[in-house]
Amino acid sequence: MGILDGHDPRAVQQAARLLAAGEVVAFATETVYGLGARADDDAAVARIFALKGRPADHPLIVHVADARAVAAFADAIPPTARRLMDACWPGPVSIVLRRRAGVAPAAAGGLATLALRCPAHPVAQALLREAAVLGVNGVATPSANRFGRVSPTRAVHVFDEFGPSLPILDGGACQSGIESAIVDLSGTVPRLLRPGSLPRAQIEAALGERLADPDAQSPRVSGSLESHYAPAATVRLLPREALDNEVRHLQAQQGTAAVAVLARHWPAGQPLPGLWQQMPDNAEAAAHDLFDVLRRFDAQGARVICIERPPADPEWDGVRDRLQRAAAPR
Ligand code: TXA
Ligand code: MG
Repeated sequence: MGILDGHDPRAVQQAARLLAAGEVVAFATETVYGLGARADDDAAVARIFALKGRPADHPLIVHVADARAVAAFADAIPPTARRLMDACWPGPVSIVLRRRAGVAPAAAGGLATLALRCPAHPVAQALLREAAVLGVNGVATPSANRFGRVSPTRAVHVFDEFGPSLPILDGGACQSGIESAIVDLSGTVPRLLRPGSLPRAQIEAALGERLADPDAQSPRVSGSLESHYAPAATVRLLPREALDNEVRHLQAQQGTAAVAVLARHWPAGQPLPGLWQQMPDNAEAAAHDLFDVLRRFDAQGARVICIERPPADPEWDGVRDRLQRAAAPR
């Protein structure tokens, strides 16, 4: 199977038929590539957990073609959820609601809640619509990477992880490059469980309420495990002032070819490191490239990746979160 053209209607139909039959299919979304299986089929969902090597109690996000499909999965749709869906769907925000009894227990990882997202990418939209025609109301879709690793933002990344037997609907490089924001609307106050592509301020504007942080009762989010989104190389997150000294030190220790650098600037007059990538100055562009760069450094044999700590501004929240988890001790 391997990589299929996601803009070819026949490839989309073929993928939708596979989904309807309980098979796993990978596809492009505007955030990262996902690994989908019909959400109402626990055996199909179990194939995703097996492929990813993900613990079965880590819940998945159910992807839907439009907001109407949410009623099949959610117990109740609070007004805050309506507002968020109206303002931001289709788009890169996932919404956690109380789960309808008996529905999609495996996708929910056994939790009483379920995360739902309506992706905007035309390939994801086409697939979800086509699947809905075949009776598939929702597709459980984690990022298409093995558990704990960097999310894929290109079809070839998915191919590298899972090989030629998995069908992959290619939709080009993902526009956003980091995962959706996850908003929990199942409790008394809205909480941001994972910062993501959609900025916090935009979510708060749509809700008409401030977002609280996760609390001790908030459900497990595997993306919130301290070590996650990690390349094979060790990641060091460093303030700009410390960067070039540390890089020189590591090069002396490990060899020049083993040390990769991702930074917004490199001191003028200093020779550029052999594995070097400039990080864009704006957060959106940095997110777009981030996982691709980490994967490339891995492929080039880097043993350590030194990354300049991103700015503290809120628009960098998503990138900063992914980098902190990539750098956390394993
Ligand atoms: O952008 C995205 O959201 C991508 C693309 C493919 O849509 N998907 C994605 O899925 O990032 P995944 O499985 O890699 O990350 C989903 C996160 C996990 O950390 C999971 O724990 C959390 O969502 N999650 C899922 N259901 C939840 C729930 N009911 N309550 C709290 N967290 C939940
Ligand atoms: Mg993931």
